[in-house]
Amino acid sequence: MKKLFAVLGDPIGHSMSPIMHNDLFSFYQIDAHYLPFQVKGENLHDAVKGLKAIGAAGFNVTVPHKSKIIPLLDGVDELAANIGAVNTVVNEGGKLIGYNTDGPGFLKGLEAYVSSVAGQKVLVVGAGGASRAIYFTLAKENPLAVDIANRTMATASKLINDCPYRNFSKALTLELAGLNLAEYDLIIQSTTIGMSPNIAEQPLDLAKLSQHAMVCDIIYNPLETQFLREARLKGAKIQNGIDMFVYQGALAFEKWTGIFPDVERMRENVLQQLG
Ligand code: ATR
Repeated sequence: MKKLFAVLGDPIGHSMSPIMHNDLFSFYQIDAHYLPFQVKGENLHDAVKGLKAIGAAGFNVTVPHKSKIIPLLDGVDELAANIGAVNTVVNEGGKLIGYNTDGPGFLKGLEAYVSSVAGQKVLVVGAGGASRAIYFTLAKENPLAVDIANRTMATASKLINDCPYRNFSKALTLELAGLNLAEYDLIIQSTTIGMSPNIAEQPLDLAKLSQHAMVCDIIYNPLETQFLREARLKGAKIQNGIDMFVYQGALAFEKWTGIFPDVERMRENVLQQLG
């Protein structure tokens, strides 16, 4: 019988996941279909119950449901529970189990650029859901430091306090992070600032950026944010958000099928969709 996969979000029309996963199912000759569903917050409980009742094999969860889904599942793995967000659900023998592949997806994408973050000084800009996934994943990798810069200091401090893997990170204002920027080897922009259509916005002053630094932005629309462009012009190595998106999808696909898919194929597919 054909297997059903889905993504739940609101809005969902822009999601590139259905085309990406359906292409993989057909490429690997797996009899499955992946569908997008726009689900309002008040209907999330019914939607999850429905997917379970009809025996969906798995699904992704996107904005704004990544946290609210947790109590609706039968179980959540340790990393996702600590992050407080699930983006991938697997139907394991009738039980819906939640995982987070956003943080591990970011880390896997980074591996092509940085052999290891061990011993590196890392700055995560932002303290929202995406930042939490990245911070918790990187904190396990033995960096010299992972500091958080955010507009709202309380959110940054909470993130640091919530993390069981590390407890000597600093929370900084965006201004102070800009002033201290030369200290950091790896800077990860994980806020929504600079995302289309607000492409002129930038979270942090890059005047003090070291030209030996690596700068990542999790945004992929536009492919090069103002932040990345400025970092590139200052001589830094840059990475956009395509890798994180593709690798979170690849890790979800692996959880569902046992196959780690061809990420180059996925990347080309996504780039084509972005036009
Ligand atoms: P996501 O789940 O996609 O990460 P989010 O949880 O809404 O989204 O988090 C958005 C991040 O972008 C937060 O770090 C937010 O900062 P605050 O914690 O201060 O709200 C940051 N952000 C969004 N718009 C911003 C702006 N105009 N200036 C500064 N920070 C902004």
